[in-house]
Amino acid sequence: MATSLRSRLCGSVRASDAGTKVRLGGWVHRTRDLGGIVFVDLRDRAGIVQVSFDPRWTPPEVLRRAGAVGVESVVLVEGEIAARPPESRNADLATGDVEVRATGLQLSGPSVTPAIPVARGKGEQLPAEELRLRHRYLDLRRPELHANLEMRHRLMQTTRRHLSDRGFLEIETPILTKPTPEGARDYIVPSRMHAGEFYALPQSPQLYKQLLMIAGYDRYFQIARCFRDEDLRADRQPEFTQIDIEAAFVGREDIMSVAEGLIGELFAESGAAAPAHFRRMSYADAMERYGTDRPDLRFGLELFDASDAFRETEFGIARSALGSGGRVRGLRLPGAAGFSRKQADELEEIAKSAGAGGLIRLRRTADSVEGPAAKFLGAEAVARLALADGDLALFVAGPDRVSSPALDRVRHEAARRLALVREGAREFLWVLDFPLFEQDAETGRLNATHHPFTSPHPDDLRHLESDPARVRAVAYDVVLNGMELGGGSIRIHDPAVQERVFRLLGIDEAAARLRFGFLLEGLRSGAPPHGGIAFGFDRIAMLLAGASSLRDVIAFPKTTAARALFEGAPSTVPAEDLDDLHIRVAGTAHD
Ligand code: AMO
Repeated sequence: MATSLRSRLCGSVRASDAGTKVRLGGWVHRTRDLGGIVFVDLRDRAGIVQVSFDPRWTPPEVLRRAGAVGVESVVLVEGEIAARPPESRNADLATGDVEVRATGLQLSGPSVTPAIPVARGKGEQLPAEELRLRHRYLDLRRPELHANLEMRHRLMQTTRRHLSDRGFLEIETPILTKPTPEGARDYIVPSRMHAGEFYALPQSPQLYKQLLMIAGYDRYFQIARCFRDEDLRADRQPEFTQIDIEAAFVGREDIMSVAEGLIGELFAESGAAAPAHFRRMSYADAMERYGTDRPDLRFGLELFDASDAFRETEFGIARSALGSGGRVRGLRLPGAAGFSRKQADELEEIAKSAGAGGLIRLRRTADSVEGPAAKFLGAEAVARLALADGDLALFVAGPDRVSSPALDRVRHEAARRLALVREGAREFLWVLDFPLFEQDAETGRLNATHHPFTSPHPDDLRHLESDPARVRAVAYDVVLNGMELGGGSIRIHDPAVQERVFRLLGIDEAAARLRFGFLLEGLRSGAPPHGGIAFGFDRIAMLLAGASSLRDVIAFPKTTAARALFEGAPSTVPAEDLDDLHIRVAGTAHD
């Protein structure tokens, strides 16, 4: 990467280059002034090299300027590469066997005292994240973030090459568009030209990729920016990137095999391995055994149904749950009988925060079973639970929609405390046969489990109106260690079926025409069978970079409060601009 201003990169010099004259440009990482000799660690994208300013080879004027240069300033250095004497070699640096003996120095971009330090000593903590995001240009200088963004770049190139080699065309779809239902709120953009009308930013390119299939572009992909106004967590950003894929004349297995191939290649790119084929589990099985549709299989601790053991007892909570169609489901924690009361209370708090009324505890020791429920359970019932010495069993009584999320959370926390998680393991899983609809517990309304364009399982079509809850979708999610990496489905390509699904979702004909008229028209104009999948690209990059937050693999991320701290977005807009947009903000004096 030689240019007219520099001959090579700081991080690239090696002992074999000794004697070569160089011109380098970079940021002053650290300086040490030993009284007459100045050492500058110079950093660029490739790494750090030590530059020595020494009266034996540096003119006095240059030496004086080197002593005054501030950290994080940009300097241009001229000099010669020389081997360091053995005693001053630095094994921690790739360039540690050499130094650059400076003969010239130009201060090209002086820096004010940086708001946060870039150089960090061993074991030194990072500044608070809020501060780092506010001064992102400095934070981004950290070699760790350079490495993450470089990894992200490589994954992007690999995706493009892999899919392009398999006949997929990269096609861009609009950002100013109509709402696409993916379950979150839309970001809305007002139109200046059309008073009272709005664009929506896409939650995904879903409808466009289906239209591309209808138009005959039978293999599409896009590294697509998506926007969702939803509550954020470490693995969610309001603005994120998907690897979006769609193909025509395919069934479920075709898409799953494309997905496995791509994931395999992305993992290989980062030096990690993914199995050629992933395990499979039905949604029903996942919910029954793990209480979640994205189980972490790096540890066991499967849930079990303990209803039978509690059925004949006088234990009030269990009886009322069983009497109202619920169950008693539990979790057996081997070796946790020794948990203190406080530890067990903490697990109970976790269950409660996930919506459970409480946790029923049973502790099995060598000669007894203890816990509030013990006295209600006869020897026979206890025997049914098959508890082993040292077990702590925890139960939630109630409907599955309460026990599942509670036991899922408790299962994770217990595995962490008992050190049961096989760190370093990668447990890929396809979750299949999702229900097509979810029923809102309060309103009884049906919602699409994925999105309204997902195909019902052909065998279940006949139950669509009569028993929608039992209709399975031809949908598939990829889960890795409990994180959803991607999801997709075979789509409805028969307009009559699409209209039936809209009706069940409470979208009447007029609303369907208004919201999805262009899709329905397309489906009536010769639609091939088609399906696809989308992966969370940021999540894949985060995993492969070994990062713990999406913010560490996105150059300019938002906070969990959906703010961009560095550039200061969102922000207010001058009143006259709002006038142009025909917008009045409620509660303001302006009118
Ligand atoms: P879905 O909504 O499951 O499917 O999204 C696909 C994948 O995108 C990632 N993802 C996110 N990543 C970061 N921040 C977010 N807020 C966020 N939301 C989702 C997840 C998820 O698995 N159109 C369908 C795909 C299809 O059917 O082909 C869709 O968008 O990793």
